[in-house]
Amino acid sequence: MAKVKTTFFCQNCGTQFAKWQGQCNACKEWNTIVEEVIQKPEKSDWKSSTSSVKRASVPLRINEIDTTNEPRLDTFDAEFNRVLGGGMVPGSLTLLGGEPGIGKSTLLLQISLKLPYKTLYVSGEESQKQIKMRAERINPENSNCYILTETKTQNIFKQIEDLEPDIVIIDSIQTLHSDYIESSSGSISQIKECTAELIKFAKETATPVLLIGHITKDGNIAGPKILEHMVDTVLQFEGDRNHVFRILRAHKNRFGSTNELGIYEMQGSGLREVSNPSEILISKKEEELSGNAIAATLEGMRPLMIEVQALVSTAVYGTPQRSATGFNAKRLNMLLAILEKRAGFRLGAKDVFLNITGGITVDDPAIDLAVVASILSSNEDVPLQKDFCFAAEVGLSGEIRPVQRVEQRILEAEKLGFSTIFVSKYNKISLKNTAIKVQLISKIEDLVAELS
Ligand code: TYD
Ligand code: MG
Repeated sequence: MAKVKTTFFCQNCGTQFAKWQGQCNACKEWNTIVEEVIQKPEKSDWKSSTSSVKRASVPLRINEIDTTNEPRLDTFDAEFNRVLGGGMVPGSLTLLGGEPGIGKSTLLLQISLKLPYKTLYVSGEESQKQIKMRAERINPENSNCYILTETKTQNIFKQIEDLEPDIVIIDSIQTLHSDYIESSSGSISQIKECTAELIKFAKETATPVLLIGHITKDGNIAGPKILEHMVDTVLQFEGDRNHVFRILRAHKNRFGSTNELGIYEMQGSGLREVSNPSEILISKKEEELSGNAIAATLEGMRPLMIEVQALVSTAVYGTPQRSATGFNAKRLNMLLAILEKRAGFRLGAKDVFLNITGGITVDDPAIDLAVVASILSSNEDVPLQKDFCFAAEVGLSGEIRPVQRVEQRILEAEKLGFSTIFVSKYNKISLKNTAIKVQLISKIEDLVAELS
C-alpha cells in the first residue's frame, strides 16, 4: 500500500506546514494547526474518463484578445444581478457566505426556481424531500430545476455529465468530499481540492457555479481564506436574524464593482426583493416622537434613508451607560464628547442609547448629523419635524463636514417627500430648483440654532 501522506494546515488561514507547531506563523492563531491526510493521485480531473488533450495556451497581443462583452446570464433577480454586476458570467465561481439560518439556501433555491435554464441544485445538507418542501413555500412552478443530494464530487460530476445543466449550485462547499483526498469533509485540503475540481469544471464547460460557504463565529468564511482567493466572486449575505431584512454584498468581484448592495425581506414565502428600501426603513408614524431623526445615507451606490433613534435619560448608576445598536459605539462616544465641548450640553450624567432601526448596521459617516440631531431631540424631549433629514459628517471641532455624492442623497430625500435636508456648507451642490430645501450648516452650533 502506498505510504499515507499527511501534511499540516492552519484551520484558520489555510497555511500549510511540514510539521506541527503551536502557533501559525501566518495568522498568529494558536492551536489551529491540524494534521490532514492528503494523497495525490496521478491526475485529479473533474472528467477523468475523457482524456482530452488540451491545446496549451498561447500568448496573445493584448489588442488581439476578444473584448466583446462576456454574455451574462440573467438571474431574474434584480438585486442579485445588481450585486454580481449585471448577471452571472459563464464559467465563473461565486461563493455565497453567511451565518447559519440567514437564508443562503433559500436565496439560491429561489433563484434556481426562477431561472428558465436547466439548473442543478446539489445539496449535501438537506434531503430532496426537505428541499421540495422549501421549494413549495417559495414557488412551486419551475420544472427545469433538478435536485441532487450528494457529497462526493466524482458522483456529482457524473450526474452533471448526464444532465448537462446550465447552472450548478452547491450547498455547501464544506460538505463536499473528493475521492482524491483522504481527509474528512470540511477540512482545508478537502475544500481546496473540491473547489479546484469545480473551477476546472466551470472553466472547461463555461457553466457558472454558485457555492454556499459557512462562516465561522468571527464572520470569516469557514475553512481557508484560500477559498476566497480561488473563486471569482465572494458574496456575503448578512442581516440580523431577528429582523426581516437581509443585505447581500460583494466582498470580491472579478467582473464588477464591490459597491453594490442587494436588499431582501424574509417572508413566509421566501425572500422578497426590496427595490425601494428607503420607504420601508422609515417607519411612517403619525405623531412626532422625540429622539428620532432620518439620515440620508449611501449603501454602496444606493441612497438609503435610515431612521436613527436616540434615548437620553438621567443615569441611574454612577457611570452613565452608552450603548449603540447598528452604529459604532466609539463613534457615539466621540459625538457625545463633541456635543459636550462645542454645544455646551451636559451629557456626562446621562445614559445614551442609540438604535438604527431595521436591524441594519451603518458605516457611512454621513449618518453623524442625524445621530447628533436625534440625541439633541431626545435630550430636550422635543420632536424634530417629521420631514427633516440629515446628511453630513461631524468633525472633532464640531464642524459639519461634506460627504460624498450629496446630490444623490438630496434627490432621494426629495423623492420621498422630505421638506428639508441638512448638509454641510462645504459640499459643492449644483442642483437647481429642487422642491426640497437644502439647509447649509457649517458648525454644530448652527444645527442647535436651527432646531431650537
Ligand atoms: P436557510 O436558507 O435554511 O438558511 P441557511 O441556508 O443560510 O442556513 O433559511 C433559514 C431561515 O429562513 C429559516 O429559519 C426559516 C426562514 N424562512 C422563512 O422565513 N421563509 C421561507 O419561505 C423560507 C424558505 C425560510
Ligand atoms: Mg442552508
